[in-house]
Amino acid sequence: KKKIAVMTSGGDAPGMNPAVRAVVRAGIYYGCDVFAVYEGYEGLVKGGDLLKKVEWADVRSYLSLGGTHIGTARCKEFRERSGRLEAAYNMVINGIDALVVCGGDGSLTGADLFRSEWPSLIEELVSTGRLSSKQVAPYKHLTIVGLVGSIDNDMSCTDVTIGAFSALERITEMVDYIGATAASHSRAFVVEVMGRHCGWLALMAGLATGADFIFIPERPPSAQNWKQELKDVCSRHRAYGRRKTTVIVAEGAIDDELNPITSEEVKNVLVELGLDTRITILGHVQRGGTAVAFDRRLATMQGVEAVRAVLEMTPNTPSPMIGVLKNKIVKYPLVDAVKQTKAVATAIDNKEFDKAMGLRDTSFYD
Ligand code: F6P
Repeated sequence: KKKIAVMTSGGDAPGMNPAVRAVVRAGIYYGCDVFAVYEGYEGLVKGGDLLKKVEWADVRSYLSLGGTHIGTARCKEFRERSGRLEAAYNMVINGIDALVVCGGDGSLTGADLFRSEWPSLIEELVSTGRLSSKQVAPYKHLTIVGLVGSIDNDMSCTDVTIGAFSALERITEMVDYIGATAASHSRAFVVEVMGRHCGWLALMAGLATGADFIFIPERPPSAQNWKQELKDVCSRHRAYGRRKTTVIVAEGAIDDELNPITSEEVKNVLVELGLDTRITILGHVQRGGTAVAFDRRLATMQGVEAVRAVLEMTPNTPSPMIGVLKNKIVKYPLVDAVKQTKAVATAIDNKEFDKAMGLRDTSFYD
């Protein structure tokens, strides 16, 4: 019987629970034993109670639960080979050689590194006498399948990551709330949103709420005159009779000379315009809470596809990332997706902003 483990890693994202549920239930449906790894990679490194077989009923209610019920962690040990050696040991003694990881690009890169090192880790476990050749014989290869769970929507080669639409919905709701009080007092608000180095949440929230101005890292304004441009746009909108000013700032916002643009700086510009201005940093409220229907469905379909991918893979198949392109669930080589995601950061560092936009490769930016 094939044994598959499922885990969540990195920052939690709404939809991770539905993804775990789908992997568990699809795995059981296809005749596998499914294990949950608790606390992200820490569960693999420590094993024991953190690596447990789960049944159909164990994931009951997961569709409507926010966060990740099996836990997540940013695990230092797994970044070292010694940690990955323990992880390999714990997997083999439980008879597991397939792992579905739901996380961001860092977590998925770690998973692929683990896969490429697997033969040498197994060899070391045998040569140091911790496992016998007979014990490791059935576990020559590790199968990894990635599900992209992150509110940031910062992974290339997939249109959207699990959790991004839930966070966007929450931001939109919050900006609407802020809009009511802003218009009452005729105030300006600078709303800072998450996204790390990706501006998707800020851009989409700006479109959804009709913001006056949006700052995102992929389309940085001129270092020389963004302040004047911001003043011009906001005063023009006020002249039309608008009673509020809303500026959305991505937490990774920069200018075209790569200097960070902070919410405080933006506020100061609005104050210079004579606007009574407040800053709201939305923070982790964007990440918590339940997943919207889109994310529940996406996670469910991708979780099922992940199990199918595990069962179809041969030792020579490159690890797939399950993505969604033009509304179709697709398998994409994980290493290529990670490479393209890293190329976005490099393009931004080289001030090649159009290239960065193209490399994000999501239909939302077209
Ligand atoms: O990657 C998801 C994310 O929420 C980012 O948007 C944000 O920059 C970061 O995680 C916050 O991390 P932490 O929860 O560790 O503060």
